[in-house]
Amino acid sequence: MARLDVTELFHGISFPGHLHTQDSLQRALEFQFEDTDILIVSYPKSGTTWMQEIVTLVSSRGDPHLSNTIPNWTRAPWLEHYYSAEVLEASSLAPRVITTHLPHHLLGPALQGSKAKVIYVSRNPKDVAVSFYHFHKVAHFLPEFGSFTEFLHRFLEGTLHFGSWFDHVKGWASPAAAVSNRLHVTYEEMSLDLLGAIKRVSSFLQCPLVEEELNNCGRHCSFNSMKKNKMVNYTSVPEEVMDHSKGSFMRKGKIGDWKNTFTEEQSQYLEDILSSKMEDCPLEFVWEE
Ligand code: A3P
Repeated sequence: MARLDVTELFHGISFPGHLHTQDSLQRALEFQFEDTDILIVSYPKSGTTWMQEIVTLVSSRGDPHLSNTIPNWTRAPWLEHYYSAEVLEASSLAPRVITTHLPHHLLGPALQGSKAKVIYVSRNPKDVAVSFYHFHKVAHFLPEFGSFTEFLHRFLEGTLHFGSWFDHVKGWASPAAAVSNRLHVTYEEMSLDLLGAIKRVSSFLQCPLVEEELNNCGRHCSFNSMKKNKMVNYTSVPEEVMDHSKGSFMRKGKIGDWKNTFTEEQSQYLEDILSSKMEDCPLEFVWEE
């Protein structure tokens, strides 16, 4: 099947062209946030969909009706996608939940002075790279790479669609990042202590849950439950956009799967780059379960 090989180059970063346009990207930068908005921010493959599900379920106090009936891209649309303005206008969901993969140096100015609640989701870069590599095979709007070595080179160089993972994480998660109302949640934290992560989100959103509601959220946000849910597993997307014969969106859902793909040298090389690029952003990463 032919790739949807269109690219939007925007402020030096390339984005897949089937959902991003120059207009939609520019509109995102000029977006008027409301103080009640909830903004989920992540580099791709860091647990974005998982957080969309958590936020939906926390807001509905564990009731799965919305997450079972409305696709994630409608209940938490990507700010930079061309359809988002229309979806947000038509939506009666309150507060608005918005998602973005834009880096802080592009979106930060639009958030300045806003009290919107920003939830930043990050994941260790080795698992991000492996998950993203597989996603490039499934998603026809992303170029296919011959080998993981070639892909990793582009990931570390920061020349894949959506730009540099390092810049993204530094921009949004470093202690010095100018984001006023931010909660940083990691994929690994959700994986190791899902209920604890949900509690942090519910307290940040000022939406306290009783034990039964919390347990219901946890149940519906589990990997197995989300893998079966057509509203989040992307199986309803047409085959020319995502080819599910090449793999699943809800692929493995594990910490440490990178070990099945990285060689020792690649792992060391990434760590060397990590220590030099993240010198001014001392984050701790969890590499295995
Ligand atoms: P894998 O490819 O490693 O399985 P994003 O939503 O940012 O694109 O991230 C997708 C990744 O998050 C995929 O990782 C997917 O399986 C994982 N994921 C989504 N929901 C999950 C859940 N409930 N539990 C564990 N992993 C989940």
